[in-house]
Amino acid sequence: MTDGMTTPLLRLRNIGKTYGFTTVLTGIDLDLAVGETIALLGENGAGKSTLSKIITGVVQPDHDGEMQIAGVAVAFHAPRDALAKGIALIPQELAYVPAMSVADNIMLNRWQSTAGFLTAGRVKAAALEAAQKVGIDLGDLSRPMTRLRLAERQLVEIVKAITRDARIIVLDEPTAALSQDESRRLFAIVERLNRDGVGIIYVSHRMDEVYDFSHRVVVLRNGRKVADLVTQETTHAQLIVHMLGHDRAPRVGAAPPSTAADAPIAVQVDNWNRSGLPSLAGVSFSLAPDEVLGIYGLRGSGADLVAEGFGGVRPDISGAMTLFGARTDIPRNPIAARRLGIAHVPAERKREGLVLKRSIQENLVMQVMKSLSRFGILYSRRERNLAADLAKRFDVRFSALDQAVGQLSGGNQQKILLASRVATKPRFLVLHEPTRGVDVGARGQIHTFLRGIARGGCPTLVVTSDIEEAVDLCDRLIVVREGRIVGELTGTDKTQQSAATLAAGDKH
Ligand SMILES: Nc1ncnc2c1ncn2[C@@H]1O[C@H](COP(=O)(O)OP(=O)(O)OP(=O)(O)O)[C@@H](O)[C@H]1O
Ligand SMILES: [Mg+2]
Repeated sequence: MTDGMTTPLLRLRNIGKTYGFTTVLTGIDLDLAVGETIALLGENGAGKSTLSKIITGVVQPDHDGEMQIAGVAVAFHAPRDALAKGIALIPQELAYVPAMSVADNIMLNRWQSTAGFLTAGRVKAAALEAAQKVGIDLGDLSRPMTRLRLAERQLVEIVKAITRDARIIVLDEPTAALSQDESRRLFAIVERLNRDGVGIIYVSHRMDEVYDFSHRVVVLRNGRKVADLVTQETTHAQLIVHMLGHDRAPRVGAAPPSTAADAPIAVQVDNWNRSGLPSLAGVSFSLAPDEVLGIYGLRGSGADLVAEGFGGVRPDISGAMTLFGARTDIPRNPIAARRLGIAHVPAERKREGLVLKRSIQENLVMQVMKSLSRFGILYSRRERNLAADLAKRFDVRFSALDQAVGQLSGGNQQKILLASRVATKPRFLVLHEPTRGVDVGARGQIHTFLRGIARGGCPTLVVTSDIEEAVDLCDRLIVVREGRIVGELTGTDKTQQSAATLAAGDKH
């Protein structure tokens, strides 16, 4: 409750940020009350992560702004300054120490003032207690961080921040890699923290979350605050107009006709198996030449393995496949996958997909050039045109093609990743979490574009944990649970409800 008289927990006045000639944020005013949750919305590149980083000391704002915590002016030079004032960030792109165990990561920097040595056992016990307090199951805490999937690493970050007794927690797309169930559990924790007076700011591209869990919504567009509203007093459609502007209302196209039942088979997957966890057991399916086939499953279901199998990063899967009439083995490495004409968009753009230090142009044409040029990467006008064309088709927002990809916003990095794989003109396109972190406007555009690629004769497989995407984008949807195909949905049977029920099994 804000009555105008109480001092807000956090107050921003005229906050701006400029990089060289690029202005990223302008004149941001924002108040966060005690126990309040604000959803921060905006298109890819609108400035949400930058604002999150300013509040938490990762990035320093331009000089003319002001920031107050409980009425006292503050200036942060590093994240530890913000942490000292009780402000924690769960970043969009996770930083972690890969060689360390989960337990060590949770307890990192928390023992500095404690004298004496800590045994691994004590660290693990303390970390376990922290995780249980938060109500998140992280499995075996002595596993190294590298063995964890993105969603699990994100949960580790969440446990870490929450157990540090923060007064303000900023979550930058915390649920992008979480399942619906995990997101609900996270927001239950957020509500509990709110009741204890903690202020929360979270960035999300998921509208249902905004309505279920936030008190207020702040919308950024091109680095300016364009709306600051009580969530329950605004509609979904109004928020989208604020995000995109009146001139760019979202296009909701009707789905093109689905593939005929007697369509020829372009890709046949034959009896894929993997022992160990997650497992695969007798997975077989096929794709028609012009269809978008989806695979949906909860975390640990094995759905991920199928995408990785096609990408050549899962040599531990046994089985065979037939691509356009030719029987072949599962590719044993990424180069073998590419030679088969398979383009694989990995789930983790930062770890596997992009070279962040390289330019937008290099990332866009790298895979094409490797296959076309005997002279390595040579940049002619042709490559530049190709890169510019791809950037435009995927609606990438950037200032120059020679800008490092690492400088782009998360959603724009995702678009570059997609574009770079599509650029190879594959015979078979395999996408793993294709629109993770992409805003609602661009997401629709990308879905339309992918459907177009499939209709043009490139069968497209989409492995996604985003149930809305699974149902909206795919012509046909296969549901995987515990390594097995448990159902196939098409036509009017293809609903979020039926997919969720199949994926969860009879357990509840
Ligand atoms: N170090 C930098 N140098 C130059 N420009 C930068 C730098 N860091 C960020 N930017 C630019 O600032 C703008 C805002 O980026 P930001 O990451 O805040 O967007 P965002 O709203 O979080 O988007 P997304 O939804 O895609 O995550 C982008 O255009 C980005 O390219
Ligand atoms: Mg961001």
